[in-house]
Amino acid sequence: MLSGKNILVAITGGIAAYKICELIRMYKRANANVRVIVTPNALNFVTKLTLQNLSQNEVGVEEFTLDEYRPEHISYADEADIMVVAPATANSISKFANGICDNLLTSIFCAFKKHVIIAPAMNCNMWANPIIQQNISKLSGLGYEILAPESGYLACGDVGVGRLCSLDKIFEATAKNLCMEKILSGKKIVITAGGTIEDIDPVRYISNYSSGKMGIALADVGYELGAEVTLVSTVATKQKPYKVISVKSALEMQKTVENEFLTSDCTIMAAAVADYRVKNKSEHKMKKTDENEISITLIKNPDILKSLCEKKKNQIVVGFCAESENLFENAKQKIKNKGCDYLIANDISRSDIGFSSDYNEVTILKKDGTIKKLERAEKSVIARMIFEEIYGQV
Ligand code: PMT
Repeated sequence: MLSGKNILVAITGGIAAYKICELIRMYKRANANVRVIVTPNALNFVTKLTLQNLSQNEVGVEEFTLDEYRPEHISYADEADIMVVAPATANSISKFANGICDNLLTSIFCAFKKHVIIAPAMNCNMWANPIIQQNISKLSGLGYEILAPESGYLACGDVGVGRLCSLDKIFEATAKNLCMEKILSGKKIVITAGGTIEDIDPVRYISNYSSGKMGIALADVGYELGAEVTLVSTVATKQKPYKVISVKSALEMQKTVENEFLTSDCTIMAAAVADYRVKNKSEHKMKKTDENEISITLIKNPDILKSLCEKKKNQIVVGFCAESENLFENAKQKIKNKGCDYLIANDISRSDIGFSSDYNEVTILKKDGTIKKLERAEKSVIARMIFEEIYGQV
């Protein structure tokens, strides 16, 4: 399945470098074209001759050679379909995260525009170091795929997290990316996530149990499938390779979504929007009184989903439906009432799916009355199946 694909294998200077000889063989057996580049330090662990024989290609180490008419790092970066950095040392990771280009490998990394997989391997204390963790988060947030190291005995004698993940995992991640069709390429998708926050006063608020996981899973998968994603979120989200707009209340969410919706192809309302907000929110902290009961008046929030459906031209509009009873009956009523193209119904009374869980189990209702049930699976899998339902096989 990797036949004819061009894989650039980048080896940095760690003991796990010897394992990459086998990874190169795996790619070659799958009929991929492999080019290898190494840092000068990597050659302390594995020889150029071995890598050259296994890849059946010249191995790149130096930055510039006199007989090249084009800088080598540009031509390597142009030719490859994917770059796989394994093992990635703390040193190279830190250079990647800070744009340092002091050898052929780091220069190619900087010039590379397609997908990059990074498989770190290092001593457990180095891996746990907050500076390394910050650099990893930064790279992950910029869209680089990090295959986290595993726990076990390390070459230095320590036991902990730092061992290169399995070669099968690296191979699968490579195949998954190269074989995944970017079927959402050219589409702008707006997704909402999290529960809205409706202030009572500067200290208290009304909200709900939505963690934002479902919306974020949709945004991540939509991005992987090539869409231009805008996530409108009420929850703190680590850095993402797509546009994230933070909002708090339903009114803020409405303003942002309606603006993004104008240029979108598809909008998915996975957020749990409060139906009501506090009528007269207090500017200052409300004081405790002698009264045993106090009341707060709530007024209706706008129905964002419904208003998008009323305004829509060619856009696809998808709603979610959170119910704790009569899921299917209520969902049927809701799709009619809101007028959306799809409604994803989930049961929020169960603790193994829905709110805050990493899993969900949903029924997709379509405007034409057809339904499809998706069995319990990780939210990322459910997200993928939702896109499959909307846009065909993905
Ligand atoms: O965030 P997680 O912890 O991962 O949990 C996921 C989820 C359970 C929150 C999610 O899957 C979900 O069901 N989201 C919708 C929650 C909700 O508000 O459902 P609802 O049935 O009350 O609303 C129906 C639809 O109308 C929703 O798409 C909602 O975004 C939208 N709505 C609701 C009220 C309102 N004023 N404006 C709206 O647009």
